[in-house]
Amino acid sequence: MTEIICVVGARPNFMKIAPIMAAFAKQPITAKLVHTGQHYDPAMSDSFFEQLGIPRPDVNLEVGSASHAVQTADIMRAFEPVLDAEQPRALLVVGDVNSTIACALVAAKKGVKVIHVEAGLRSNDRGMPEEINRVLTDQISDLLYITERSALANLLREGIAEERIQFVGNVMIDTLRAHLERAVPVKLTLGEQPARGYAVVTLHRPSNVDDPTTLRRLLETLAEIAGEVDVVFPIHPRTRAAAERLGLGGLLSVAGIRLLPPQGYLEMLGLMRDATLVITDSGGLQEETTALGVPCITVRENTERPITLSEGTNTLTGPNPEAILACFREICANGGKRGRIPEYWDGHAAERIAAHLRGWLDAA
Ligand code: UD1
Repeated sequence: MTEIICVVGARPNFMKIAPIMAAFAKQPITAKLVHTGQHYDPAMSDSFFEQLGIPRPDVNLEVGSASHAVQTADIMRAFEPVLDAEQPRALLVVGDVNSTIACALVAAKKGVKVIHVEAGLRSNDRGMPEEINRVLTDQISDLLYITERSALANLLREGIAEERIQFVGNVMIDTLRAHLERAVPVKLTLGEQPARGYAVVTLHRPSNVDDPTTLRRLLETLAEIAGEVDVVFPIHPRTRAAAERLGLGGLLSVAGIRLLPPQGYLEMLGLMRDATLVITDSGGLQEETTALGVPCITVRENTERPITLSEGTNTLTGPNPEAILACFREICANGGKRGRIPEYWDGHAAERIAAHLRGWLDAA
């Protein structure tokens, strides 16, 4: 009998599920893995399964890309028969992508218990599709595992009963710690060691890349930074398409900007570990840079991960060129924020989840 169905769909889910599947196998908890197929490019999906040793998905729903409504609906339609056939005791979802809310909603309506890993994070910005996914998933979850204590206050404010919430730490950092030694050296990824320092850049949020003025200003800022350090830019398909559509491709071919395709986990880890700084709008990279002690400039107005600001190496600048450049100069001059490792970001979060969940299943 399957006790738990675990769901993944998009790139940031894969590094979260890897340690959970491993801890479930040890506990043991009987689990099956469903991949919705939200991300399907080998570089955005398969390579993570190989590098992180994630078991092959038992089912792939192969939904692919579409508008939010169509993608969410497609996942729900495809997931329902899987849930009916398996009749698990509970569904486990991670993070905040469309696959997370879609599968949680199917399960909740069928009376299957929902477990949410990385619950309670809030940017308080409902303009972000992920914020809607977070709030709604948490409302229909029975068990909520949190990565930082700020999430507890957020959930209590939204009326979630405290006994459903467990502070376990950060499963994504479990993966980072487990694989740091295997990180691919920068020299191999770039074909040479950059002679000067370098910034790793990722951008893919709709608010940054879909608006022509914002994207132009961001790319112009990167071009300016490339005058001082190399800019290593693994570009998300959405961002590449937006730059081409908006006629901004020229700004990506400036000297000092090294454009790369989406990178594997171990390549990205190697790039981040040795970087002078990271410039990003990703949620995950804010946490990974804090765990690595590498300064991070987050080109967003808010973060759902405030511990990366209060304890970590993260600084929010918004997509504002002056603020980004001022922070960049500060990092070059003084090394930027030092930070410390947040509580329970110790490589054992998934073990805590598995141990707690075993007790929860046995008690039910
Ligand atoms: C999704 C998540 C976001 C996460 C990001 C990481 C939601 C709402 N957003 O955004 O939280 O930070 O993943 O990458 O779930 N595409 C490909 N190949 C793929 C997948 C996508 O080319 O394998 C292209 C398609 O043109 C697609 C676009 O990227 O339309 C956007 O993909 P989508 O899954 O809708 O959202 P992301 O922007 O990747």
